This record gives sequence, structure tokens and C-alpha cells, in this order.
Amino acid sequence: MIVLKLGGSVITEKDRPETLDGEALERAADAIAAARDGGREDLVVVHGGGSFGHHNASEHGVSTTDGTRDASAALAIHGAMKTLNQFVLRRLLERDVQAVPVHPFSAGHRDGEGELDLPTGQVETMLEEGFVPVLHGDVIAHAGAGATVVSGDELVAALARALEADRVGLCSTVPGVLDEADAVIDRIDDFESVADVLGASEATDVTGGMAGKVRTLLALEAEASIFGLESLESFLGGENPGTTID
Ligand code: IPE
Repeated sequence: MIVLKLGGSVITEKDRPETLDGEALERAADAIAAARDGGREDLVVVHGGGSFGHHNASEHGVSTTDGTRDASAALAIHGAMKTLNQFVLRRLLERDVQAVPVHPFSAGHRDGEGELDLPTGQVETMLEEGFVPVLHGDVIAHAGAGATVVSGDELVAALARALEADRVGLCSTVPGVLDEADAVIDRIDDFESVADVLGASEATDVTGGMAGKVRTLLALEAEASIFGLESLESFLGGENPGTTID
């Protein structure tokens, strides 16, 4: 079982509000369709927001820790993410990938400690029935805080654990985790060895900077990869492009 995240910045034009990068999304959808045609194992897709969701969230002062109790604010963020989700689903359906939506706002919550609780019964049944569940970064009810943002990376980690994924892929705007000379680091087995290059001293890394991603992926049982869009097909084909984190 593979959990794949399509970074929001990969499939949207990050600098223009609510603008799709149609060409990039088509490429990603082509790679997923090719993998499905090739009889690849079960796949769960998660996508981020890019130019969808983030500006609505900051407009309303909502982050992964600061919430809102204003339903219109929550719905503005959720609505933007659902719009992007529709684009992703449509591109997959056009290629005969049996993609179906799962909206985290209606599926899970955070407890009082901020821990994400995401029941996955529906995702498991979808997989068993041959569907490709497509989740997305979203707002989510948060005990004591109203509704906060849940990032695609958090969803990936929760799904990988609950579904005992074999592999996790983060398709990103960079070809992997880069060292000081901007060369892709082939493999990361522990955080200390890359702490300097990732700027580990920045403790505020809650919104998915590279250090946070690496930490999250190191904590997973599953083998994880961070790679660029050009390598999505090879990742889904069973290879280890970009940086492997294990
Ligand atoms: C965005 O999800 C969620 C919202 C702002 C509602 P991500 O944080 O995973 O998006 P990207 O991939 O970093 O753009």
C-alpha cells in the first residue's frame, strides 16, 4: 500500500490565489494512471493546498494551532480545498483512475492535545473495493480551539500508520532533500546527520518545512521518499528516486 502526497505547490500556481497548475496536475494524473494500468498496489492520494486554502486560512487567522469558531471562516477554507479536490478528482477520472473524495473535516478531529484522530474505516473499504481515496489538507474540529488547519503531511503520517503503508511518497517542488551544495541527499536514516543543513534550530517548523517533513517521515515504519514531479512515475513504479527516508 502506497500513501502519496501531491504537494500543493506542485499542482497549483503558488503565487496566484486559487490558480491551478494544470500542466503539472495533468502530469501527476498521467503518472498515477500509468501506475494503476501497470497493476500497481493500493494507492491513497493526499494533496496539499498551494494557492488554495492557505490564503483563506491566513485571512481568518487560522493555522494548525490557532483555530476559529466561525463556521463561515471554516467553510471558506474547506470550500477552497474542496474546489482543488474536485480538480484533482476530475483529472484522475478522465484517466479512468477510480478516484473518490474523503474530506478530513467530516472524517476526523484533533483532541485537546492537538493530536490528530483520523478514523480510516471508510478509506480501507474504498481500497478493498478498488477505489483510490483522495484526501486533502483541510480544517478540522479541534477540542478547545474550534477548527484548525490539518496539513496534508499530517494526514499522510496518520494514514501511513493506520493503514500500515509499505511506502510513502511526497511529491514536491524540489527533487529531494538538498544538501549545502544543493545536491540531492540520497538517503537519510537519522535526523542528526542532516540537522545542520535543514536548519533544525528553527523550532517553529509546524507548517511543513523540510525539517518537519523529515522528522515526521523518520518516525514512520514505512519507507518514505521525497522527490520531484519528474520522478513520480518512477516512484510509483517501485524505484527510489529523490531522497529515501527510512
Ligand atoms: C493546506 O495543506 C491546508 C490548508 C491550508 C487548508 P498543506 O499544508 O498540506 O498544503 P501544501 O502542500 O503545503 O501547499
